[in-house]
Amino acid sequence: MFKAKIYGTGAYLPERIITNRDFEKYLDTSDEWITERSGIKERRWVRDDQATSDMVLEASKRAIESSGILPEKIDMLIVATISPDHLFPSTACIVQNKLNLRHIPAFDISAACTGFIYAMEIARNFIANKTAKYILVAAAEILSKIADKEDRSTVVLFGDGAGAVLLGPSEGKSGIMATRIYSDGNLAKLLELPAGGSRNPPTEETVKKRMHYLKMQGNETYKHAVTKMGNVAVEVLKIAGLTGKDVKVFIPHQANYRIMESTAVRAGIDIEKVYITIHKYGNMSAATIPVALDEAVREGKINPGDVVLLDAFGGGLTWGATVLRW
Ligand code: UT7
Repeated sequence: MFKAKIYGTGAYLPERIITNRDFEKYLDTSDEWITERSGIKERRWVRDDQATSDMVLEASKRAIESSGILPEKIDMLIVATISPDHLFPSTACIVQNKLNLRHIPAFDISAACTGFIYAMEIARNFIANKTAKYILVAAAEILSKIADKEDRSTVVLFGDGAGAVLLGPSEGKSGIMATRIYSDGNLAKLLELPAGGSRNPPTEETVKKRMHYLKMQGNETYKHAVTKMGNVAVEVLKIAGLTGKDVKVFIPHQANYRIMESTAVRAGIDIEKVYITIHKYGNMSAATIPVALDEAVREGKINPGDVVLLDAFGGGLTWGATVLRW
């Protein structure tokens, strides 16, 4: 089968570290509560002058460098984000210019925390159809700017960061083996940014009601995350003719340590194989998986021939998983 494979990875994380203790200073919360309920100890937040495209640029440069592919060979740029620089132009167009790429197709996709898996699947199809050869796929979020600093139930959970991969063709054994992506808009209200779009354009009232900040029904979202991430992990492994025992590194979306643990159990994957970043970066939505992937690769945890499972769930609702051989 003609496959797509990852040629290079890159990531960028802001320097500023926000600890759980920083929230204790002004919110009715505690390091103990945040650690026990989510697994998060600290997260990175950008400076005021940084925008999402700035982080995509850095992560992309690193991915291109590690791939060994010349930038002029890139045929497409896809950015997964729910915190773009602007509603339009797309963050991808801004990065196309900053990277001095040819006049290639460049676009953003919105699939919340599953954005990276969605974007990889779009890229894989273009490569498999041979309408593109090398595609830069980035995922980046500045959630600190859309999280309500006064809402203890959400602000403590989210972080900022960016990751990128360069995908290209593979006729050998390495490459993407199976992917499944899903949605259920009936549950859209569980996780949303109520205002700022055409449904509720910005007014004094939307600002006063804090409708420009993300809202999450955490407990209900949690239940769906556990079942949907578990089911889709089992499904892609089955399609690829594998079991959890074959997986060398499992990189789930990192919203909550308990969700990752139960997904691993459901998929039959030993807990030591789960690559965890939640304690230091929190939930970076679409950026979570490519940042973890880049770290795992650079630490030498992923080597040629290894089976890697990526699995995500988020607003939309959306969910999906992909299994690949490195
Ligand atoms: O990224 C993709 C999608 N997102 C997810 O998958 C996230 C899924 N949800 C979760 O991870 C968890 O639901 C949370 C970590 C968000 C919350 O944990 P929980 O065990 O579900 O807590 P809860 O929302 O049921 O809240 C329990 C209590 C509540 O108080 P009462 O009503 O029991 O008195 C909250 O008001 O904890 C309270 N609470 C807090 N207390 C201290 C909520 N946030 C905080 C806080 N500090 N930061």
